[in-house]
Amino acid sequence: MCGIIAYAGHRPAVPVVLEGLRRLEYRGYDSAGVAWQMRGQLHIARASGKLQSLEDKLASMPAITATCAMGHTRWATHGAPVERNAHPHLSNDSGLAIVHNGIIENYRELRENLEKMGYRFYSETDTEVLINLVSEYVKSGLDVLPAFAKALKQAHGAYAVCMLSKDEPGVIYAARMSAPLIFGKGVGENFIASDIPAFLPWTREVVFLEDGQIVCASANEYSVYELDRLSLAAAPVRKIQWDMQAAQKDGFKHFMLKEIFEQPRVIRDGMTGRVQGEKVVLPELDKLPVPERLHIVACGTSYHSGLWARYLLEPWAGIACDVEIASEFRYRDMVLGEREMAVFISQSGETADTLAALRKAKAVGVPAIGLCNVVGSSIAREADAALFTQAGPEISVASTKAMSSQMLALALMAIYWGQRKGSLKADAEAALLAQLADLPALLDDNLPEMRKRAKELAQKYAQARNFFYIGRGFCWPLALEGALKLKELSYIHAEGYAGGELKHGPIALIDASLPTFALAPEDALFPKIKSNIEEIEARAGRVIALVNPGSDVSATDVWAVPALPASVAGFLILPALQLFSYEVADYLGNDVDQPRNLAKSVTVE
Ligand code: AGP
Repeated sequence: MCGIIAYAGHRPAVPVVLEGLRRLEYRGYDSAGVAWQMRGQLHIARASGKLQSLEDKLASMPAITATCAMGHTRWATHGAPVERNAHPHLSNDSGLAIVHNGIIENYRELRENLEKMGYRFYSETDTEVLINLVSEYVKSGLDVLPAFAKALKQAHGAYAVCMLSKDEPGVIYAARMSAPLIFGKGVGENFIASDIPAFLPWTREVVFLEDGQIVCASANEYSVYELDRLSLAAAPVRKIQWDMQAAQKDGFKHFMLKEIFEQPRVIRDGMTGRVQGEKVVLPELDKLPVPERLHIVACGTSYHSGLWARYLLEPWAGIACDVEIASEFRYRDMVLGEREMAVFISQSGETADTLAALRKAKAVGVPAIGLCNVVGSSIAREADAALFTQAGPEISVASTKAMSSQMLALALMAIYWGQRKGSLKADAEAALLAQLADLPALLDDNLPEMRKRAKELAQKYAQARNFFYIGRGFCWPLALEGALKLKELSYIHAEGYAGGELKHGPIALIDASLPTFALAPEDALFPKIKSNIEEIEARAGRVIALVNPGSDVSATDVWAVPALPASVAGFLILPALQLFSYEVADYLGNDVDQPRNLAKSVTVE
């Protein structure tokens, strides 16, 4: 996610803004910039790469005495991470500057209209469209505040923005819609930022802006308005007690927990701009044919996303799927035929095995799609088409929100190809999209309770030395993921199995010392997994059965989560597994965010 900070006060503003951006670096970024007002003009400085590049550029410029400025670190969601796409962006007449976090869904249409009016654009960003829309309304005779409000009402999607006008020295305008923005109230100075750490050294008094609010702030004054009618809004000031580390984790104990709870937003963001009415739009894939056979290639958690997606891609898009571990795919002598295609899933976009597998596919003429979270990453750059999961940086080594964002993107790809092939009926497509659209609110409602249940079970099972995870159909890849999470976080040996495999050997291991986590939602395979549970319990094996409310499963421990259609139930089962392994690891006192022996991105073989 991008980072924003703006300052109006008595200090030299640019050093304050740079310090604030440094405190937002943990959010991940690939370019940065600042804007300031001085002698009736707006000035900007931007640089791709890390903050040092921006600081070097500023050091070569004349002294900056401005006391009002704003800054931005960009995490590219679309548009390459190069200087021209870095923020701030100026309006064509250089009268306004803006920084933005979020996605304006309808920016293409707005840009076309402005181009017809003679506006020119120098970047691929939606942000540059927004600032010129404000500029157009100022030129039409509106004051800056109503012009800002009018433009924002036309922008559909998510935004947290700050804006400066050359005609209003010392005044910052800011607004938020579905992206965080916080006002920091100082003494003779005021701050606006994406996150508290940015201004924590200077003030702990904050106003959490709400969606649809605008704030107008100067060194000694501020007002908060409702966007609709520009009526004054209540703006309760709160006192922050967090230290710096806690603030970066948004008050959560670990980044992993924060990222688990970010999943509702991640799913919402993953759909933004990709669903128009009852159609999925993935322009990144329009230039490629619909494959007859699809190779899905990845490692670790990303591999599990691919295994899960096969259960959607085959019925929804009528595409035969092979899902392979990248380190095997890259060395296997395989037969690849016509109309085959490959998707390479990688959160980091830098996993060596997955990158090598992509290069192998391309070398034999198989079109390669990169499904990544990092814009500008090697896999994204070398793929024939890149799709981004827009999950924001994942700090914790254990992948959590990355998986749910990958699952969402793969579900949208299945619907997209299904509608292109005509294998998905319109009513079925509408139903699937409605199910996906309901997920963020459902997760928001249930995650806190799920965490409580996870904690209870974690304390009961944390001393186990071995664990089985079993599931069938969609739940088999989730069982594999649950086992991986427990292994990498708690260092307890865990194995994921397809429930039907138990009889073919593994059941010999069952006894009172080997608990099993059984995924048993009420789907078509429920009776089969229920039998597995009975077989295990009959051999003194303890079972944690993840079920839906009202289930008649009898197990040592039962954990009920709301029932969902099998195709999307995984979006609720996955966080339950993540929370269980998190709570076990935390209970054992392990380093949750940096487990031993592990790296966030395995860039070597
Ligand atoms: C999962 O929690 C691990 N962090 C690991 O298995 C990871 O999923 C794997 O290394 C693949 O990484 P990638 O998605 O960045 O390619």
